[in-house]
Amino acid sequence: MIEFKCDLGHLVDENTFNLKLEQARNAVTRAQEDDFGGWVDLPVKYDKEEFARIEKAAEKINGDSDYLVCIGIGGSYLGHRAVIEALGGERKRTKIIYAGNSLSSLQLNCALRELGDADFSINVISKSGTTTEPAVAFRVFKEKLIAKYGEEEAAKRIYATTDANKGALHDEAVAKGYEMFVVPDNIGGRYSVLTAVGLLAIATAGINIRLLMDGAEEERFALISNGGLAAEYAAVRNCLLDRHYDIEILANFEPQFASFNEWWKQLFGESEGKDGLGIFPASVVDSTDLHSMGQYIQEGRRNLFETFVQIDSDLSHAAVPAMNDNLDGLAYLEGKELDYINKKACEATKAAHKDGGVPVLEIKMPSLDERSLGGLIYFFEMSCALSGFVLGVNPFNQPGVEAYKNNMFKLLEKPGY
Ligand code: PA5
Repeated sequence: MIEFKCDLGHLVDENTFNLKLEQARNAVTRAQEDDFGGWVDLPVKYDKEEFARIEKAAEKINGDSDYLVCIGIGGSYLGHRAVIEALGGERKRTKIIYAGNSLSSLQLNCALRELGDADFSINVISKSGTTTEPAVAFRVFKEKLIAKYGEEEAAKRIYATTDANKGALHDEAVAKGYEMFVVPDNIGGRYSVLTAVGLLAIATAGINIRLLMDGAEEERFALISNGGLAAEYAAVRNCLLDRHYDIEILANFEPQFASFNEWWKQLFGESEGKDGLGIFPASVVDSTDLHSMGQYIQEGRRNLFETFVQIDSDLSHAAVPAMNDNLDGLAYLEGKELDYINKKACEATKAAHKDGGVPVLEIKMPSLDERSLGGLIYFFEMSCALSGFVLGVNPFNQPGVEAYKNNMFKLLEKPGY
């Protein structure tokens, strides 16, 4: 189960906290009943037939492809990338290449170079089926796929994850006979990692998606009646915002979590940043970033708080070796596990930042595995939704994303703009 704790003493007034906690608790049903609240019961209500098809497709891909090109942007790629990287990367033959998450020709060419002449398949993921970035990348990789295998075989190597009934990608998939997976109507992109949106890539990477779902289900069980610790986290965030702490930094001590940070930033940023409100989500990977952002966090403007994500178990073994001399002055660390040193660095950082006037929140996952990560994802999804409702915004829409698109379409002279 995911743990949450903080000790903010005078910063959070008890009455205000209790009021916000009550609001957060009441928001669980609101989230569940929302038209976009499908993720709330997903861990106990997912489509088992589709789930089995995902596992089968992942097996096929590992049998015939060195690479799976995952094409998608925002909620259509951040979640699976976060899970795969947090758990240490691909464990089977097929490596994942991410594409269609920018309009950069440099990135595109880099991906094409990496692909070379290897065998590959494509998972194109777009709920709307019309997003420009993935649509452009899909054209490019599809052309390469057809050139390599011919139309018929190429169609067998394309997996389309999109709306069940509509959209350009849906229509193309039907016309060309691609295997299709569904982005449920009632789940928005950033809450969709535990649907086919994330699961095909995750399963292809050799990660046990049943355990991932089990972890989410256990966490749901802990949170579903009154929001549990997710409601507390949501309430604390809003109390801190009232005190003008309007930047939250997600901090962890594992570089493997860099993409998880990106997923978390999208989840909270897109859910809460609207109507002139919101906490700006930022992130660091320490101890790396202690040597870049550490100075600001320690002594800069006092409007930020920090949420540490910690793993409550020993991680892979690597100890500091003994040496005959002590020229580097490291004799005091000889024989000590690097993970132990890393955890001490985390402890030291929390204490230093607290002393520097940064409110510190702590979230603990029991271990680094599928089950815990499934739990952590669900915990953050629930916290985010509850926090958004307490803040007074709709945590499931993203109207602001359209602004750049409209300008870009005008500039590119898209018909109708
Ligand atoms: O969370 C969201 O809804 C967005 O980030 C979308 O996932 C993103 O804009 C991609 O949209 P689509 O899947 O329709 O291509």
